[in-house]
Amino acid sequence: MPDLSLFAPTTLGPLALRNRIVMSPMTRSRALEASTPNDLMAEYYGQRAGAGLIITEGTSPAPNGTGYARIPGIWSAPQVEGWKKVTQAVHAKGGRIFVQLMHTGRVAHPLNLPAGAEVVAPSAVALEGTMYTDAQGMQPHPVPRAMSESDVRQVIDEYVLASRNAIAAGFDGVELHGANGYLIEQFLSPHTNHRTDAWGGSVEKRLGFVLEVAKSVAAAIGGARVGIRLSPYGANAGMKPYPEIDETYTALVPRLAATGLQYVHVVDHSAMGAPQVPEPLKGALRQAWPRTFILAGGFDRASAEAALNQGRCDLVAFGRPFLANSDLVTRLERGLPLNAPDFATFYTPGPKGYTDYPVAT
Ligand SMILES: Cc1cc2nc3c(=O)[nH]c(=O)nc-3n(C[C@H](O)[C@H](O)[C@H](O)COP(=O)(O)O)c2cc1C
Repeated sequence: MPDLSLFAPTTLGPLALRNRIVMSPMTRSRALEASTPNDLMAEYYGQRAGAGLIITEGTSPAPNGTGYARIPGIWSAPQVEGWKKVTQAVHAKGGRIFVQLMHTGRVAHPLNLPAGAEVVAPSAVALEGTMYTDAQGMQPHPVPRAMSESDVRQVIDEYVLASRNAIAAGFDGVELHGANGYLIEQFLSPHTNHRTDAWGGSVEKRLGFVLEVAKSVAAAIGGARVGIRLSPYGANAGMKPYPEIDETYTALVPRLAATGLQYVHVVDHSAMGAPQVPEPLKGALRQAWPRTFILAGGFDRASAEAALNQGRCDLVAFGRPFLANSDLVTRLERGLPLNAPDFATFYTPGPKGYTDYPVAT
């Protein structure tokens, strides 16, 4: 019998992990220059190398995908050099790190994008409300330009290039961000995908974009180095329920398995006010997935151990607890109290609320 303890070593495909604790991907908006990772970011990730696996903040595969202020990219040579500092800092401490590839699609504002980039999405459906920009504060979301068929092909190629760049930068793998209302989920949802071409119009066609990205990235760097994050019933960035949600995800997951991806990472944001992901759906996705299955959202040590022992997942991801406790693994193991996260500094530049949380151990 494998040791199902949170703290037991395990494997993720070809990779040895020192424990079953994953650091959830978290946008921290500290890439001040040209979406390029820097020494401060290397320090932050190096501090958290005690995780079995770190998944970085959402990182754009292309200029059009950098919808938020100061998020990093991985399309340019300087960005690859910047990420090398991060991967080296983590590897030097024996950690493992995947980069999360996040194209924001319509969740963007031109003021947050580099010169020449534009807000694109499957269809010209604007996200309601406003978003923060460094230049002019809160601004309404623009109506995105609907991607042409050649734009769709180009973005798939951008994911492939970004994945190759990730390997060149020393990452152990990539996570495709298929969750939380960004570009991939914008293709999955009928609220944001009104296309009538090959990429929309039925559940099957709405699955086409994510499957093509998964297949192409797996072909480029090997499926064992690729995972995907999904958020059925998620409510982030204007996502709304639709009648075919269960059908969409139960059709998607076996098809993703056939592309050879290593893991599926399901996030339930009910601890942050989203609807709960129904347990039967989580269970069905778990059953349909032949390899590593990760759960995230609202876990503490006891609930994580229960999920592992009940066979509901193989690894457990922690977000806010890891943000506020770089030594989270040791604190959980020894039952030490946790620092509370400081919401005011989640996305602000500089070390405050980033690399200066007190360490207990
Ligand atoms: C500051 C912050 C930034 C986040 N950024 C991302 C992101 O870039 N990509 C992503 O998939 N999830 C993101 N999330 C969601 C987390 O990965 C995680 O799913 C969520 O915080 C729930 O887990 P927790 O209860 O352990 O914090 C973010 C969450 C926080 C608090």
